[in-house]
Amino acid sequence: MITPATIEQIKNRLDIIDVVGEFVKLKKRGSNYLGNCPFHNEKTPSFTVSPSKELYKCFGCGKSGNTITFVMEHEKIPYVDALRWLAARYNIEIEEAQVSEQQKQQFQTADSLFVINSFAAKFFDNQLFNTEDGQAIGLSYLKERGFREEILKKFQIGYNPQAKDTLAKALVTNQFNKELLPRTGLVAVRNETELVDNYRGRIIFPIHNISGKIIGFGARVIGKAINAPKYINTPENELYLKSKVLYGSYFARTAIDKQDECLLVEGYTDVVSLHQAGIENVVASGGTSLTIDQLRLVKKYTNNLTIIYDGDSAGVKAALRGLDMALEEGLNVRLVLIPDNEDPDSYVNKVGTAAFQQFIKDNKKDFIIFQLEVMLKDAGNDINQKNILVNHVAETISKINKAEDFIKQQAYIKQCAAILKIDEGGLITLVNKLKRDKVAKDDKKAAAAEINYQNEFEQYPEQQEEQTLFVSQDEKHERNIIRVLLEYGLHSFSETQTIADHVFSEINSFPFESPEMIKMLDLYKSQYEQGLQPTTKTFLYFEDHTIRDLAISITLFPYELSSNWDKMYEGKTITNTDTKDMDVLMSVNYYKLKKLKKMFDQNQADMEVASIDNQLLLLRIHMELKEVEREITKKLGTVILK
Ligand code: UTP
Ligand code: MN
Repeated sequence: MITPATIEQIKNRLDIIDVVGEFVKLKKRGSNYLGNCPFHNEKTPSFTVSPSKELYKCFGCGKSGNTITFVMEHEKIPYVDALRWLAARYNIEIEEAQVSEQQKQQFQTADSLFVINSFAAKFFDNQLFNTEDGQAIGLSYLKERGFREEILKKFQIGYNPQAKDTLAKALVTNQFNKELLPRTGLVAVRNETELVDNYRGRIIFPIHNISGKIIGFGARVIGKAINAPKYINTPENELYLKSKVLYGSYFARTAIDKQDECLLVEGYTDVVSLHQAGIENVVASGGTSLTIDQLRLVKKYTNNLTIIYDGDSAGVKAALRGLDMALEEGLNVRLVLIPDNEDPDSYVNKVGTAAFQQFIKDNKKDFIIFQLEVMLKDAGNDINQKNILVNHVAETISKINKAEDFIKQQAYIKQCAAILKIDEGGLITLVNKLKRDKVAKDDKKAAAAEINYQNEFEQYPEQQEEQTLFVSQDEKHERNIIRVLLEYGLHSFSETQTIADHVFSEINSFPFESPEMIKMLDLYKSQYEQGLQPTTKTFLYFEDHTIRDLAISITLFPYELSSNWDKMYEGKTITNTDTKDMDVLMSVNYYKLKKLKKMFDQNQADMEVASIDNQLLLLRIHMELKEVEREITKKLGTVILK
């Protein structure tokens, strides 16, 4: 836990241009900076950074946020890690609130393992490139397979000599903790005290975590594996949790993000070869079935997963087992099988980059359809088998259950019904039944979470622009009041009043209606009353992302006041003015007029059904409202005529 004082210190030191500028080439344009968006592919820059507002916004893909969210999005790390990242960058020492003894121990062990791994990787690299053995045995083997030096260096591929303890000796000489060394899997203890190498005479593939640190190794025999496993991998330890790792993810993340697609292969060599061929959005699972953590790792970057396996590999079956989980995660899974006993590595070497890419494009099969076709072939004319198959397909489709995937589900039902030559309506009924069963089976909590998710989805459409489109006219005026408070609330209105004081008193008898804006106003008020001097910036750094998002859309998409009111109020044109006082005056009064109009309408409706007595009362209200309206328009009128 980082202490609030540290967080405050980090926020005060942030410079958005500096941070964003590290990843995006920015050019000054007026008061803003412009560059190519790091979140989508573009040729003409539409990624705008405002140093004064401390915001970024891409007008191409709609992504927007502040310095912290930029680091979160770009590095795909959670809020707290983004703070750590920024603290490291600005040399701010982090004060941590209490962590448990056990946690501390784990961190320390993990840290030490990192240090040992990174030493070992350098050692292996040096062995491969700078020793006679390394060059004659390791490098020549790799070159024969078509790997060039740049790519070997990029992936930090190395070599461990055949002798029994070359690395072990180096580790001991460098005084690494002997107790800890065996946990890395690099060495083992023989005869109680003797340390020996585990990866003798092997090519070493370091495994990087998503931020580039080496967490483990895969060690391949040179040539054919006889009497020995082809690969030896790092055992699970504080650092290396196999189920959470995808080999190559560190080198692939930017490309996956940009191309909005992740290619998944089986082996280390497949990843490296494809990279060498210029196909960089590729990771490897290591030949086992995909875990939920690996799928979530992919989903941080893209919804499109393309699995590329060799046609007759056992891996296909393993991968098929991951399918249902992938669907539940909302991933679009496609499958390509490489023909003729080739794997992606050998195939790209054989046909070249362009042909490889074309092959992938032409042979990409939707996973559900693929599975269906394979099983249908197996079933042949057996009615029983076909029945089982229909149920299986319905079950798979029923797992697509997120709100956003409804259309996808419908499309699958149509396609599968056609392939199976069965009635679409029947399949729909079956899928729906399975969905109901599933909900009933899940515990209450899971069901509630799903409903929450759907509600949230309906209330908060993804894109900022869309969000503003869905904002009602009424709410726009409320948003505008919040904007005024955020922008000028702390400035003085008169000798004794701030603009915030003024606004509060003005809108006192015209309460907000939108729950979100009520929340924003309450937050602002409570901060203001505590003397915390709230501004836009304060709201941009709220940990609650709904508050941040609202603050961003309010400041980035200010509501144009003039558009409707000039028509409504005797065709008077409001000259667009950016003086603060005018802005406040107009914002507050148009807001009141809007509320008044609603009151008129309500009053009118009441009058139509009221008794005679009440009609008189309502009429008086009508007159009073008229009077208030007259005052407001007079106020505005003098402004307008000026
Ligand atoms: P492959 O046998 O396809 O290996 O296993 P590869 O990476 O393509 O190697 P080359 O091209 O024959 O040199 C696929 C993956 O399965 C895991 C490794 O992650 C490997 O990359 N594997 C395989 C092991 O962990 N241990 C093994 O003994 C074999
Ligand atoms: Mn291979």
